[in-house]
Amino acid sequence: MKTAVKPNIFIGSDSLENLNAYLKSNKYSNVVIITDENTQKYCYPLISDKVGANISLLIKSGEENKELSTCHELWNEITKYNIDRNAIVINLGGGIICDLGGFVAATFKRGIDFIHIPTTLLAMCDACFGGKLGVNLNGLKNYIGLFKNPVAVFIYPNFLKTLPQNQIISGFAEVIKHAAIADKRFFNEICEMDDISEEFEKLISRSIRIKTRIVNLDSLETGIRKSLNFGHSIGHAIESYHISANPKSAITHGECVAAGMIAEAFISCKKNLLPEKELNQLITLIRKFFNAVLIDEGSISAISDLVSKDKKNENSDKLFTLIDGIGQFRVNEKISEDEIVESLKFYRNL
Ligand SMILES: NC(=O)c1ccc[n+]([C@@H]2O[C@H](COP(=O)([O-])OP(=O)(O)OC[C@H]3O[C@@H](n4cnc5c(N)ncnc54)[C@H](O)[C@@H]3O)[C@@H](O)[C@H]2O)c1
Repeated sequence: MKTAVKPNIFIGSDSLENLNAYLKSNKYSNVVIITDENTQKYCYPLISDKVGANISLLIKSGEENKELSTCHELWNEITKYNIDRNAIVINLGGGIICDLGGFVAATFKRGIDFIHIPTTLLAMCDACFGGKLGVNLNGLKNYIGLFKNPVAVFIYPNFLKTLPQNQIISGFAEVIKHAAIADKRFFNEICEMDDISEEFEKLISRSIRIKTRIVNLDSLETGIRKSLNFGHSIGHAIESYHISANPKSAITHGECVAAGMIAEAFISCKKNLLPEKELNQLITLIRKFFNAVLIDEGSISAISDLVSKDKKNENSDKLFTLIDGIGQFRVNEKISEDEIVESLKFYRNL
């Protein structure tokens, strides 16, 4: 099935044929593919004949490697091959490869074309489109980066067959977020699901529809695109905290976002935006799929401090996206430190 959700986003089992045709018609001088050890092993063999890459670069997986030092290594590598501006970079991987590989391509020689081929549910539903690229700065999430769209995105859900279950669930957090901010009916459908593996194409295409609608109205995130940050102000702080405490931590981005959504929904409820019944519905849904993230008493103030470093803040105001009932949102809500601490305690005591 070929579904052009947006002219340059192809989903489905024959999307790889579109990839092949795209590369053939564009006569790039070099085709550089970036993988990590897992996508090289599990995904690259499924597409190598379609891609015909002549330069293959490998990075180490893991959020702790989403740093400028990895970009340096890649820039140095591609410089050795003396590639010109008519080359293309193919990012074959999860959100980390899409963000980092896209950033490397978008900044090399002031920018060369790049394609995303997402291989995780999270990247298929979220990170592979919308144009946000970047890396962490000493663990601070996505502090360095820019906005630039890939020239095309090819989504091949069969890649998910080898993705570990905890990573599938991680990606599901962004699907829940899309539904929670923008589509109550979809949210209610999700609440009825028990086995999401039966529903991948639906989850991906509904997510893409919601996110593209929002991004098309505000690509540079000056207004309503901030809605997509629901769960991420506290979620990113939890993620940064766990990674700095233990760089090899197995915690996933989605687990942190899921915890962040509960905390931020709690704040929404305290501010009389979200009815308690809907808060409980969200908590039930998240607890059905996600392990609880450990937030011990001693970590609460450190996580709260990290929220104050969130790049979405302005002046010294901590600005959150809250939900105004399931399916609706409010951006730029000023949140106090006490509210953050209270929400983390609420999460911890669930
Ligand atoms: N740019 C955006 O709009 C955006 C949106 C959401 C998240 N993000 C970013 O995405 C990142 C998280 O992405 P992620 O959750 O995809 O994590 P990830 O890229 O680390 O991938 C998760 C793990 O799965 C492995 N893997 C990937 N595909 C596989 C496959 N098909 N089979 C087997 N193993 C596979 C990877 O090697 C890695 O170990 C975060 O850094 C986050 O900030 C970006």
